[in-house]
Amino acid sequence: MKQQKRQNMQLDIEQTIRQDIASLKPYEAHVIEGNIKLDANENPFPWPMGMKEELFSSGFEFNRYPDGKAQILRDEIARYNGVKAEEVLLGNGSDELIQVTLHTFGGRGRSLMIHPPTFGMYAVAATITGTTVVEVPLLQGIKLDLNTMLEKCSDDESIKVIIVCNPNNPTGTLFPQEEILKLVRQTKALVVVDEAYVEFAGESLIGEINNYPNLLIMRTFSKAFGMAALRLGYVLGNEELINCLNKVRQPFNVNSFSQQAGVIALKYEAEYKKQIEIIKKEMQILYNELNKIPNLRVLPTMANFILIQPKEPSNLAEKLSAKGFTIRNLGNIPGLGQSLRISSGTPEENKAFLQAIKEVADSNNLGDY
Ligand SMILES: Cc1ncc(COP(=O)(O)O)c(C=O)c1O
Repeated sequence: MKQQKRQNMQLDIEQTIRQDIASLKPYEAHVIEGNIKLDANENPFPWPMGMKEELFSSGFEFNRYPDGKAQILRDEIARYNGVKAEEVLLGNGSDELIQVTLHTFGGRGRSLMIHPPTFGMYAVAATITGTTVVEVPLLQGIKLDLNTMLEKCSDDESIKVIIVCNPNNPTGTLFPQEEILKLVRQTKALVVVDEAYVEFAGESLIGEINNYPNLLIMRTFSKAFGMAALRLGYVLGNEELINCLNKVRQPFNVNSFSQQAGVIALKYEAEYKKQIEIIKKEMQILYNELNKIPNLRVLPTMANFILIQPKEPSNLAEKLSAKGFTIRNLGNIPGLGQSLRISSGTPEENKAFLQAIKEVADSNNLGDY
């Protein structure tokens, strides 16, 4: 009898889990030990000299909660970006901030507008927060379809958030600032500009945050600052917007170690600038050299990665992996076709990669890898 009762009370997972969550697939990164990683748009260089030592010699009280306001880091980020600390909110990576933004402004009965192909986590965060996704695909895979975006916004009151990824992952495209500002001006929705790769592109809309009540800029330490492992992102916007997001943010979402790493990293800005300049030069080399390979479309890029499209369906990613290079196979992107994304490595890594991809191209029937 007791046993019977217990069985009746067992959780029926399929009946209990939210149906939209049941359809999600957990994120899985495919790490191939020993391969050169050119798949996650990370900074391939080690931290500037002395930075690790400075971080490790900082005194931490790991038995204490971190400063929930992260005041010192917010002050430093404010200084770095020329804004006030009250206009900065930190996250456990910008991934967390995408979710915090949708918890705050999205949710059931509300919609998020995105421009596929773009960063996949926007749609995932929308599902998690119960927000409907409205897609306005890029024109030819690279241009904002501004007219359709504006039309949809005026027709659909449920659109509360728009995310523009600039430069865009995975295409590397930099959208004109004037187009983004037109969207900001002509919609009531919150426009989030994800500037994860801004240091490589060199232009930002941060100077506009106080001109528009509906503009939020998202940034990360994971890319140019080479701190992907430490999960540190931030948003910048007017105080009212930041106060709204702060209601949803977990009180201790950024740990003490990452806070301190962020503070120290900003002191090494000049060193990082040197790394960024090398990566920008490398992107030019990658673009020029990949363009020489027949039957390969190479998209112009303003980020630290580049999108390539073999003419025919291919197993290029597998062939390169066998040669020791992990790149990101994005599969068949609607409106763009079969696509692969390659992040810049160090100059030595890129040189070896270019040799490998040329060998694969040479030893295969071109257009039919
Ligand atoms: C456009 C864009 N935004 C945000 C992120 C997430 O960054 P974080 O490591 O800060 O969560 C990425 C990571 O690839 C990205 O490409």
